[in-house]
Amino acid sequence: EPAPKRQHSPSSSPLQVFVKAKKRINDIYDSIDGYVLDVVRFVNNIPTDKDLLTADQAENIQALQKKVKGIKEVLARNHMKVAFFGRTSNGKSSVINAMLRDKVLPSGMGHTTHCFLQVEGVDGDEAFLTVGDDGQRRSVESVAQLGHALHKEKLDESAVVYVHWPKQRCHLLRDDVVFVDSPGIDVTQGLDAWIDAHCLDADVFVLVANAESTLMQTEKNFFHKVSERLSSPNIFILQNRWDQTANEPEFVEGSESVPEGSVVRQQHLERTVAFLVDELGVMTRAQAEKRVFFVSAKECLLQRLAESRAPGALPPVLAEGFQSRFFEFQEFERRFEECISKSAVQTKFEQHTQRGKSIASDLQTALSGLYDRAQAIRAEKATKRSKTKARIESTDQQLNALIESMKDKIYAMTDDVERKVAVALGE
Ligand code: GTP
Ligand code: MG
Repeated sequence: EPAPKRQHSPSSSPLQVFVKAKKRINDIYDSIDGYVLDVVRFVNNIPTDKDLLTADQAENIQALQKKVKGIKEVLARNHMKVAFFGRTSNGKSSVINAMLRDKVLPSGMGHTTHCFLQVEGVDGDEAFLTVGDDGQRRSVESVAQLGHALHKEKLDESAVVYVHWPKQRCHLLRDDVVFVDSPGIDVTQGLDAWIDAHCLDADVFVLVANAESTLMQTEKNFFHKVSERLSSPNIFILQNRWDQTANEPEFVEGSESVPEGSVVRQQHLERTVAFLVDELGVMTRAQAEKRVFFVSAKECLLQRLAESRAPGALPPVLAEGFQSRFFEFQEFERRFEECISKSAVQTKFEQHTQRGKSIASDLQTALSGLYDRAQAIRAEKATKRSKTKARIESTDQQLNALIESMKDKIYAMTDDVERKVAVALGE
């Protein structure tokens, strides 16, 4: 068995925007975590008999530690999620396979995908499945076997099967993109429940349409429902099976002034753009024109499989016009990468950046309160000079040291957090 070809994402990949932002915000939270820990240690060392800190205030500081831990866990799990929808047999699973450059998901004639399939990257080189939340690994040797395994499980259509696929086999997985494949929207009932369960956290939606027919009402209805639930979903529309139209008479009959295929293409383009702009109202015309692509997932996958299995070998025999369809698929991938990384940075990191800021200011408030009280106590002590001089001096020294060390620490720490958060926000 030849070693799988390693897919490196070019450093120019737009996905790097997300990857870098994720690293940056995780680093910031590591520092915040360190600062909070310092403060907690510091507070734990304050003598309790000095009235510097109430139990409540101490608890609030401890609570920050839990909060930061919780946020760090969420941040570490964050990924970019793309969900594919469309009528059965339009080629949803084939599109995902083409993007993954391998036959990962079962595809075929008839109603193939029976439940939700989420493909995500995993370290190492072993692919496996988990179903729902049970965490039990089921090994996957081949796609055929995966299809079989899925059938055997007798899953209901809203169940989710997680396909853990080696990150090293696809740069999209390595850069934290997660793919969601779905059963055809024409063969299912509970669309609303689907949307709630699988769509609300998707960064991008891809409608896989069939270029041999026109956009169907079931497809439109689905996206109407999505856009009722989400304020402005990022939608791409793939006019798939474009290769099938290559040999149709109306294409062959193209004249000098009307090149082959452009009539049908223009009609599809107009209708899909009108759907996005006039019906859904989720984008402008200019934007919508860059969201519709005429592709052939099947050809693209064949080509890529051939490239990776035998570099330099003759390309598979593909229908006329393959090159331009292949190019258009790559163009789709580029725009998709740009869109998903931007959207994910915004929806997943913006609020946590704000939270980081508020944690920094909570720290500052807690510490400067402490500082003020220390000074007040010191002033009070100074007026009670009747006590033994030695004791006062020793207390005084302790408080002085406390105040000095706090003052520097407080300001250094909060300044640092605020500076980092400001950088992350791009201020
Ligand atoms: P369900 O899972 O059943 O909802 O279907 P799906 O949308 O996932 O479609 P799938 O990827 O299984 O493809 C259905 C059939 O269409 C398969 O036989 C594919 O090989 C074929 N197919 C997919 N894309 C193309 C394409 O661009 N051109 C052609 N000619 N066939 C395609
Ligand atoms: Mg499918």
